[in-house]
Amino acid sequence: MDHFMNPRNVGEIPDADGIGQVGNPVCGDIMKMYLKIKDNVITDVKFKTFGCGAAVATSSMATELIMGKTLEEALEISNKTVAEALNGLPPIKMHCSNLAEQAIKAAIDDYKKKNESSK
Ligand code: FES
Repeated sequence: MDHFMNPRNVGEIPDADGIGQVGNPVCGDIMKMYLKIKDNVITDVKFKTFGCGAAVATSSMATELIMGKTLEEALEISNKTVAEALNGLPPIKMHCSNLAEQAIKAAIDDYKKKNESSK
């Protein structure tokens, strides 16, 4: 699987508009998601994780899926969509894909909060 071997969008965005960090209660792994947002559209996204290979692969996939999408569209991308895009994950690895979904949601929340307070 290409996303396992060559994860996309790994890294940080120093001036990110939204940052979401979540921990996985099942295994204790951590994921941090950075978003650049312009006119309600995600223009750049990077992530860092101290998670397993499945977490890296699903995040890599998720970041590709939400790039260029509106915030509403990005929120609709669930872990299921991501797992399907990766041709299914073994059930034991489903919690790993939750990390990406939750980190995206947390980053969008963070962005919304920042924007409300700066208005
Ligand atoms: Fe922790 Fe997959 S085992 S994210």
